[in-house]
Amino acid sequence: MADAQSAESMLVLVVDDEDSLRTSIVLNLELAGYGVKSVDNAERALSLIQQEKFDIVLCDLRLPDLDGMTFIEKCRETDESVAIVLMTGFGSNDLAIEAMRKGAYDYLSKPFSPDELVFTLRKIEERERLRTENEELKSVINEQFRFSNIVAKSKKMQDVFQTVKRLANFNTTVLITGQSGTGKELLARAIHHNSPRRGKPFIAINCGAIPETLMESELFGHKKGAFTDATRDKKGLFEEANGGTLFLDEIGEMPVHLQVKLLRALQEQQIRRVGDELPVEIDVRVVAATLRDLEKDVENGRFREDLFYRLNVVSIHLPALKDRPEDIPVLIEHFMKKHNKRLGLSIQGVTPEALRCLMNYQWRGNIRELENCIERALVLTESSTVDVESLPNTVRYSDGEEGRSEEGAAFVFDDSNLSIKHHSRELEIQLIRKALAKTDGNRTHAAKILEISHRALLYKLKEYELTELGKK
Ligand SMILES: Nc1ncnc2c1ncn2[C@@H]1O[C@H](COP(=O)(O)OP(=O)(O)OP(=O)(O)O)[C@@H](O)[C@H]1O
Ligand SMILES: [Mg+2]
Repeated sequence: MADAQSAESMLVLVVDDEDSLRTSIVLNLELAGYGVKSVDNAERALSLIQQEKFDIVLCDLRLPDLDGMTFIEKCRETDESVAIVLMTGFGSNDLAIEAMRKGAYDYLSKPFSPDELVFTLRKIEERERLRTENEELKSVINEQFRFSNIVAKSKKMQDVFQTVKRLANFNTTVLITGQSGTGKELLARAIHHNSPRRGKPFIAINCGAIPETLMESELFGHKKGAFTDATRDKKGLFEEANGGTLFLDEIGEMPVHLQVKLLRALQEQQIRRVGDELPVEIDVRVVAATLRDLEKDVENGRFREDLFYRLNVVSIHLPALKDRPEDIPVLIEHFMKKHNKRLGLSIQGVTPEALRCLMNYQWRGNIRELENCIERALVLTESSTVDVESLPNTVRYSDGEEGRSEEGAAFVFDDSNLSIKHHSRELEIQLIRKALAKTDGNRTHAAKILEISHRALLYKLKEYELTELGKK
C-alpha cells in the first residue's frame, strides 16, 4: 500500500449502500492516511456535502434513492471543486464515460483492489496540488516577493534580500557569485538603487568583453597622447561612476596586471589615467560579479589573492534556479505579465501539465532561460492559457532527472519503498518521456524504440496521464 503521509489533509466521502464494501473501502482509505466519512444513500451524502468541505466523493453509480448522474449534478451544484470518483459494476462503462462528461473525475470498475483505489485517489491529489500552484500563479504577485525588480519567493532569495538591505547603506565592495542567468546584474542594480548612491550613476562593464589592450584606458581613462589613438583626454569608467556604483561583471576575466591596478584603486580611492602621473580622487562603490570559482582561480594563480580578499568583503551567492523551484511559479507570473503587456496579449496562467514540465526542468540557463521560454510560449500559444504544446521539447519532455544522475543511473532506490509496481511505473514513464524526446514527440517512432505497439503506447500515455505528450 502506498505511504500514508501525503494524504493527511484529504477528506473523502464514501457513498455506497453495500455495507461490507463500504466498510472495507473506509478501512483501506484510513490505512492510507485519508480522513474518511461514509453514508449509504445520496440524500445523506448531499446534506453532508453542504455542511462540510470534502476533497473527494467516492460514490456508487447505482444508489437506492437517486441515480448516479443526478447525484453528480447535485454534488457539483453544492461544491464545484469536489472531485467525484464513481464506482461502477460490470458492463456499465458507457455510463461511467457519460458521468465523466458530467464532471466526474474518474471511475473504478468493481471489483477493484485496495491498491487501485488508493492509486486513483493519489492521482487526484497530484492534480489538486498542481491546481493550487496554478492558482498561486494567477494571483497577483505579492509585494513581499519583490525586491526592486527581483522577483523571488524562496527562503534562499528572501535571505539574499535581507543581506542586500543590510549592506546597501555601507560602502563595502560586494562580490556576487552565481551561474549564468541567475540575476547577478539585476542584484548589483538593486544594491545601487537601495543605497544612498541611487541618484548617482550606475555603470556596468563586462571585463570579459573588452580587449585586454583597451581595458586599462576603459577603466581608468587616458591622457591625450598616451598612445597612438589617444587624440584627447578621456575619462575612464571609474570617473564616470563617481559618487555612484561601478559594476565589474565577469571580474574573473580581468588580466592579472590590471588586477594590481584595480586593487590599488580600491585601497587608495584614487586612480591614474593612462599616461598621467597625477592621481584622481574617486568615490566609487565597486560591486563585482563572477560565475567562476574565484577561490580556485586564486589557488591556480589566475586571480590575485589580495584582490580576492578586497572584493570579497561581503559576498552574495545567487542559487541556481533548480535549487529554488518555489520561485518558478512567481517568476512565470512575472514574465507573463511583462511579455503579455509588451506583445499586446492577455494569456492567463499555464495548464497544470505545462506547470509540471516547467517545475521539473533543470534550467541550466537559469532565469534568463525561463524568461525566454515564457516569452516564446506566449507567442506560440493559440489558446488563452499556456499549454505544453507551446513549450520547447527540451522542457516538455524533461523527466527532471537529467543532470542529477549519471546516464542509465536515473533510478535511485530508497530502501523504504521497494514496491515493484511503483518503480515499474516510474521506469515506464521515464522511458516513454525519453523516447518521445528522442523522436521529437513522434509516437509511432517512439513506440518502435520502446519495442511496444503503437496501441500499447497510447494506452500507457493515457494510464500515466501523459496524453498531452507527443504528436498524435
Ligand atoms: N529574480 C528575478 N526576477 C526577475 N527577473 C530576473 C530575476 N533574476 C534574473 N532575472 C532576469 O533574467 C535575466 C538574466 O539576469 P542577469 O543578467 O542579471 O543574470 P546574470 O547572472 O548577470 O547572467 P550572466 O552571468 O549570464 O551575465 C535578466 O533579464 C533579468 O532581468
Ligand atoms: Mg550578467
